[in-house]
Amino acid sequence: MTSTLLKRIVIGLAIVVAGMQFFRPDRTNPPIDATQSVEAAATVPPEVGAILKRSCFDCHSSETRWPWYSGVVPMAWGVANHVTEGRAEFNFSAWGTYPARKRVAILEKMCDQVREGKMPLKQYLWLHRDATLSEADWKSVCNWSMEEADRLAVAR
Ligand code: HEC
Repeated sequence: MTSTLLKRIVIGLAIVVAGMQFFRPDRTNPPIDATQSVEAAATVPPEVGAILKRSCFDCHSSETRWPWYSGVVPMAWGVANHVTEGRAEFNFSAWGTYPARKRVAILEKMCDQVREGKMPLKQYLWLHRDATLSEADWKSVCNWSMEEADRLAVAR
């Protein structure tokens, strides 16, 4: 390959990537009603709250901390997808708006997800090492999710 051809390919790619930036998804953090947050609407011990904030809130809340690369296509598409799908699954910022039945269903899945290492998503952990759950962390999340599900079952 001649160096002129290589140069043209690199310039061509740069133009394509620059053009793709026009298709950047919005990075939204919808307004929050603090009275509906999981902290207000459930009984969350502070240490569990801290784990959820650190390891889950970026995708399962309206308080996403958008990393710099979420502003650069194509990474932006992946991040926005995770956030959209994560919030659609459940949103800790809207916890109080969910009927008890829905909360219990989410809580019951939560323990399996963290115990089996399915959550937080692997791709997320590559760039967010601090969100990795230690054994003590996932056990705290598990215990809390089961206790909270029991509390809701009794209250019903
Ligand atoms: C990088 C984004 C991201 C993070 C961080 C994240 N999740 Fe998720 N979560 C998702 C997405 C996307 C889905 C829906 C698709 C799927 O199940 O893979 C999901 C689904 C779930 C589900 C439903 C699973 C099912 O099978 O119905 C639970 C429960 C869950 N997450 C819990 C958690 C908990 C607890 C944390 C923190 C310890 C967490 N997630 C962190 C993105 C994330």
